[in-house]
Amino acid sequence: MTAVETEHKGWLGRSVKRKEDARFIVGRGNYIEDIKLPNMLHMAILRSPFAHAKINSIDTSRAQELPGVVAVVTGELLAEHNLAWMPTLSGDTQAVLATDKVRMQGQEVACVIAENPYVAHDALELIDVDYDPLPVVTTPQQALEDGAPVIRDDKEDQSDNRIYHWEAGDKEATDKAFADAARVVSLSTHYPRCHPSPIECCGCVADVNPATGRATIYMTSQAPHAHRTVFALVAGLPEQNIRIVSPDIGGGFGNKVPIYPGYVVATAASLLLGRPVKWVEDRTGNLISTGFARDFHMDGELALAEDGKMLGLRVKMLSDQGYAYADAQPTKLKAGLFHIVTGSYDLPAAHVVTDGAYTNKAPGGVAYRCSFRVTEASYLIERLVQSAAYELGVDPAELRRQNFIKPDQFPYQSATGFVYDSGDYERALDIALEQLGYADLREEQRRAREQGRLLGIGIASFTEVVGAGPSRDYDILGIKMFDSAELRVHPTGKAILKLGVKSQGQGHETTFAQIVAEELGIPPEDILVEEGDTDTTPYGLGTYASRSTPVAGAATAVIARTLREKARKIAAHLLEAAEDDLDWDGERFAVKGVPDRAKTIQEVAFAAYTADLPEGMDAGLEGVKYYDPPNMTYPFGTYAVLVEIDRGTGQWKPVRVVAVDDCGVRINPMIVEGQIMGGLTEGFAMAAMELITFDEDGNCIGSNFTDYLLPTAWETPAFELHETVTPSPHHPIGAKGVGESATVGSPAAYVNAVVDALAHAGVRNIDMPLSSDKVWQALNEVGLAE
Ligand code: CDP
Repeated sequence: MTAVETEHKGWLGRSVKRKEDARFIVGRGNYIEDIKLPNMLHMAILRSPFAHAKINSIDTSRAQELPGVVAVVTGELLAEHNLAWMPTLSGDTQAVLATDKVRMQGQEVACVIAENPYVAHDALELIDVDYDPLPVVTTPQQALEDGAPVIRDDKEDQSDNRIYHWEAGDKEATDKAFADAARVVSLSTHYPRCHPSPIECCGCVADVNPATGRATIYMTSQAPHAHRTVFALVAGLPEQNIRIVSPDIGGGFGNKVPIYPGYVVATAASLLLGRPVKWVEDRTGNLISTGFARDFHMDGELALAEDGKMLGLRVKMLSDQGYAYADAQPTKLKAGLFHIVTGSYDLPAAHVVTDGAYTNKAPGGVAYRCSFRVTEASYLIERLVQSAAYELGVDPAELRRQNFIKPDQFPYQSATGFVYDSGDYERALDIALEQLGYADLREEQRRAREQGRLLGIGIASFTEVVGAGPSRDYDILGIKMFDSAELRVHPTGKAILKLGVKSQGQGHETTFAQIVAEELGIPPEDILVEEGDTDTTPYGLGTYASRSTPVAGAATAVIARTLREKARKIAAHLLEAAEDDLDWDGERFAVKGVPDRAKTIQEVAFAAYTADLPEGMDAGLEGVKYYDPPNMTYPFGTYAVLVEIDRGTGQWKPVRVVAVDDCGVRINPMIVEGQIMGGLTEGFAMAAMELITFDEDGNCIGSNFTDYLLPTAWETPAFELHETVTPSPHHPIGAKGVGESATVGSPAAYVNAVVDALAHAGVRNIDMPLSSDKVWQALNEVGLAE
């Protein structure tokens, strides 16, 4: 059944109010900080002030003497239990607590366990660590220079700082395309480091029962099942004795996918002490030590024919991974899905070379408001297209139109190996231009210039790839990236849906109930959606990179359809009719031509537990589906902005922001719009204010919200949202992902549109951050500053 055919039934495309908000807005959410267990201890972490240093000694005696301190844990103690290092989700290793050296500022050095959190924090100041500072590496370029200090000298096979070298596409075909090109446009750029900064920092309550040996770990986890398996492998605990519970989570954005030392030490401490241990990270700890995003250095070249047709793309990318490769990319794809860098364009040849390097910075590179590394890729290709338009002296909209993959080319095989499922890029562009009033604005811009005002018009298109993923190509540490849904319809016609994914604010309790309602006719308010408890939900890889709807959403639709087929058999039996003689109207089965002879889904559910069923049929109405998607889904869109620049200060202001996004069939348009606004706000933040840098000693600048500026509603511009709907042909309800990691709502496209608008106003070749002093300098160079 296609998505379009399902629309009439009524639960898809409805902005049902979020069921979960009732508890959130009255302050009744259940976050880690709300969990209080009897006899619970509290843990605080001592972090390294140095980015790179040898540890000579750690003296914990003064801390241990402080009344209320129960234990001080060091790497040496963990090493006795073989727990000083742990594997990362990218197959590397990371220190739990430092033993030999510290390799980044903020690295975990020791933990205090105390009767209350205040004593635990006070005691940190009584731990004496003797460090010998070492030379610091803060950029991947430095890291790969001859003679650079080898950061991971703990690893036997590591003699330099290179983590991976990986290539995609066809080098020979690409070289030929460049040899044939009439023009080559090139660009070097950096997408700076930023941080997902969820409102709730990381934390856990580890409760290992000394009598049974059972470990219950309440933790801020976007992937509870995968984390349970990793815990079993790392700690050597039997997996049935581990229960991970992710309660309400105050935002994740990829930041809560990696496993952090705090979780491991709290669990080890609970095991050793026989009491529950709570750890709640502070803001600086979160900003300086947990999964950052981006930090990609990119060189791109675009080969063009005389008439502007794109012939080939060459990309070299260098990723700053920090001191451990820990960003949870699918095993085969070292640099994530960066090779989607061909974007929305019909590029016959492409060759992508990616390298990753260790530096003395926090590990990360998580899927923050995009699928794995897709924001970086979108940013590069659109910057190249903008440069090409300026160099060729053609309208950037027309250059895009000329080179877009056309609707009849789908499914489209990209030069780097993706099969795009569907798209209509030109339509999204047309709507964006029309809504912005592109043609008229060019005239307005000219008039404004005559009056001495600087207006810029910018556009950017994007294609994303989400919904990881087909198990043949995608896994994390060998665990295949399918996902699951278990649906149980109770005798009274109410239901519980249990999922392997885990919402961190995306509204799953509402949208997944809508999918069941659509397929089974049980209204969303009668369906409880449960996620996050590994004891009660089926196995899944979790929520990040906009995969929940494409994968677990599909599993939900498929299992609901399976139950509907069983319900049809029961209804036929009750109505003494042939199955084929029944019509399903979205809520009930009726005998064809006799609409009064009908059974509602609720009546059928009751019968499934109370009536005589057809010969050989088991009682009950429930089932589980593990869904392995045949392909990823490919959302897309175009953004267009109007920016005004102050010639005296270089300050720029988005006057209008038009966003056209296509995520296939929208389950809940209100929720989707919220996701899109989140992605746009993140783009605005990167363009305007968010930035994490490091000084030459590796001190993190951006370790608190005074230095790392998050936008509030006050400075965030208004967004004008529009949509096109191109269903995914292989998804059971035609939806594509949008994610908290919102691919649609592309941050890169927003930044690109602003860069384009600035260029259009005369500020060429400016890179992030687009600060007013840089803009003013650039204006000054071309004689436009005042
Ligand atoms: O994996 P994650 O939850 O971050 O991403 P997602 O499932 O793609 O989307 C986030 C939210 O938007 C969920 O509540 C989805 O059900 C909803 N959504 C929707 O209503 N319609 C779509 N076509 C895609 C997502």
